[in-house]
Amino acid sequence: MVGSFGLGALELGVATAATQIEGGNADTNWHAWARTPGHIVDGSSPSRAADHWNRVADDTALLARMGIKHYRMGLEWARVEPRPGEFDEEAIAHYVEELRGLQAAGIRPLVTLHHFNNPMWFEELGGFASPKAVAIFTRYAERMVTALRDLVSEWITINEPNIYATHAYLFGTWPPGKRSVRTLLKVFTNLAVAHIRAYELIHELQPEAKVGVANHLRVFEPLRSWNPLHKASAWGMAYLFQDAITRAMSVGRFLAPFTQPKGLKPGQYYDFQGINYYSRSTVRSFADGTAKRVPINDLGWEIYPQGIVDVATAINARYPGPIYITENGTADTTDAFRSRFLYEHLQALVRSELPVVRYYHWCFTDNWEWLEGESARFGLVHLDYETQTRQVKASGRFYSDMIANNGVTSRAYDTYVASSEYRTNA
Ligand code: FCB
Repeated sequence: MVGSFGLGALELGVATAATQIEGGNADTNWHAWARTPGHIVDGSSPSRAADHWNRVADDTALLARMGIKHYRMGLEWARVEPRPGEFDEEAIAHYVEELRGLQAAGIRPLVTLHHFNNPMWFEELGGFASPKAVAIFTRYAERMVTALRDLVSEWITINEPNIYATHAYLFGTWPPGKRSVRTLLKVFTNLAVAHIRAYELIHELQPEAKVGVANHLRVFEPLRSWNPLHKASAWGMAYLFQDAITRAMSVGRFLAPFTQPKGLKPGQYYDFQGINYYSRSTVRSFADGTAKRVPINDLGWEIYPQGIVDVATAINARYPGPIYITENGTADTTDAFRSRFLYEHLQALVRSELPVVRYYHWCFTDNWEWLEGESARFGLVHLDYETQTRQVKASGRFYSDMIANNGVTSRAYDTYVASSEYRTNA
């Protein structure tokens, strides 16, 4: 039947991150960064966002109404540990309450411990560049896993170590705005060691837990496949940006430019491979680039559905095991092409023979998008920031329909996908 396909064993969920939806004035690196004019394109701050902290019950009810069974959410470290080693029982109780609500609604959580968000006291100590970072992060992880383990069995330690480290310590566009290759390598190493130690610790506290990293993976394509310089750039960028760090985090092997940390043994440090996939980079030198005459989203990122299979294939060859697509989504203010985007990425996954068992769409609702602030809309649910009204978009209805039917029916294809069209950067 035209356009239809089944999802098989692939289960659908949605993803969020604490700093991007909660609102309020937690003392984080991002709240501080947003206070400097010019840092955030629209001058907004995470203190509004989706006001989720005050609307948890309504948002859970909305997830349930949409038929969503898997929810990836983050914790705001600065809320639960406002001062070094001092934990805020009320904030922890808030998350317990939220997780109980999800459980009652039959929604399974996947909880992220670190999603670009540092408490300011940690940032001031040097964040992940500090020699104390691993001990500080594992203390936080231990407290949270102990508090939440009755309600959570799936964890992401660190979200997108490569995006975080390069933007914060190489390009200097994210807090703390540093540009130093030496510090970058230190941060990368500490993030990997923090993940490995947290992986071991979580398994001690909760032997049946499933633990992984949400790796940001991109396709790097040479602009001209015959050009040796373009080819070398694509290979080098992929290696430095994602391959070396994914190896360190997955199996504890630190190849150049890293050095093997003392006392750290290679092993298997993942129960699933988490993949955040958004786009393809087409390169001809050591700089990012986008091909011409290709479909793009509102931020100019190429829409390249085959890429989700390409990155998952590469990961699966090196680190076999279950794959969770921990994020995939697109900036589409008018919801003009999100349904097609969903359709094509899911179809590519289902047609591959890969062990992809979860897909979490980024994002549940429109949210505070880091440097883009409130200006880039990734949600399946529209958010009116002024009134905080939520309204399910057509793509959100399509998503619910796919969950209900375990796939795309030809009717859903006609209703949501047939008229959903990309624009190109021609
Ligand atoms: C990823 C981030 C996520 C969101 C999406 C659009 O890099 O993990 O928080 O910003 O991009």
